[in-house]
Amino acid sequence: MKTERITIKDRLCPQDEELMKAAEILKKGGLVAFPTETVYGLGANALDEEAAKRIYAAKGRPSDNPLIAHIADRAGLEPLVACVPEAGRKLMEAFWPGPLTMIFPKSSRVPYGTTGGLDTVAVRMPSDPVANRLIALAGVPVAAPSANTSGRPSPTTADHVWEDMNGRIEMIIDGGPVGIGVESTIVDVTGEVPMLLRPGAITMEMLRELLGEVEIDPAIVGPMSPDAHPKAPGMKYRHYAPKADMTLVEGKPEAMAAEICRLARKSMEEGRNVGIICTEETRHWYPEELLSALKVRSMGMREKEETIAHNLYAVLREFDETEVDCIFCEAFPSTELGQAIMNRLTKAAGHKIIKV
Ligand code: TXA
Ligand code: MG
Repeated sequence: MKTERITIKDRLCPQDEELMKAAEILKKGGLVAFPTETVYGLGANALDEEAAKRIYAAKGRPSDNPLIAHIADRAGLEPLVACVPEAGRKLMEAFWPGPLTMIFPKSSRVPYGTTGGLDTVAVRMPSDPVANRLIALAGVPVAAPSANTSGRPSPTTADHVWEDMNGRIEMIIDGGPVGIGVESTIVDVTGEVPMLLRPGAITMEMLRELLGEVEIDPAIVGPMSPDAHPKAPGMKYRHYAPKADMTLVEGKPEAMAAEICRLARKSMEEGRNVGIICTEETRHWYPEELLSALKVRSMGMREKEETIAHNLYAVLREFDETEVDCIFCEAFPSTELGQAIMNRLTKAAGHKIIKV
């Protein structure tokens, strides 16, 4: 299949003519990758089971891993859900449109092909103007997982999508790099107490301030036993995996850098190609001789964690392009946006963490 790529001139103010063809493709059951404020999504008509099947095929994704239905406005929610619990109503008012996905009891209109056989449906209203207008023009809810091949880091630029999806889908809409860089927060509002299933830019602190009590799916915090069943089925797969073997090192900045230097030297002596992921504030703790001999990348500023989230997947993908076969990466405090950052890094590292 030939994949068409279009570029939006002004991503804050996309013109309908630019998005018409993409909307037609979606209406007809085709696949279109598009930018959102979190990561690029791979969209299809969420009410069309055949279209959903094509998403799974294009991504190589297990079909028990359900999709998020994206809507353009509040009116889009009613047909998808059996009811809207009180917590859902509050969250919607506070954070939609935006990087928040909620799990609701599904209506009979939503096919099981979209929900991976579940009786619940995940819904999100993105704030990105391109995503929002595209969904409105398509006139249907748009099922959209991240537009990466299953098991690779989520795409944060149209080039990332191109690497993974060229030849597999009808169209890629280039709306420039995304803003946030990690996937939406997922909250299940079907139970008595709302439960965080995936941390994101709407943080646990923000959720608790609004709702009071919020539980955390244990799958977020620790390694899972093989028989565990996380509530978001996607959390059980080794997502976000770079090709190289990755280890996280946690501790005070200076001690962390010292330990990473020690581990890096040891691995080099063993003949391995070593990479280091650091931050702007810690870079100076690494000796010049290591910085010049190794592939070292800074993810951004600890003081501005949104820069870390923004660059995280791009840095992991960049390492995939190199010969590096082991990566040592600094850890972050697991509070606020750091919870989402650490969740993704911990998974990329297959839960290999060294504490100093
Ligand atoms: O930011 C995002 O959410 C991006 C953009 C494109 O919107 N989308 C995204 O989709 O990250 P995906 O498919 O990569 O992740 C969806 C997650 C999976 O972990 C899946 O298991 C979970 O949502 N999920 C979907 N429906 C669910 C449901 N009914 N119950 C529990 N978890 C669900
Ligand atoms: Mg994904």
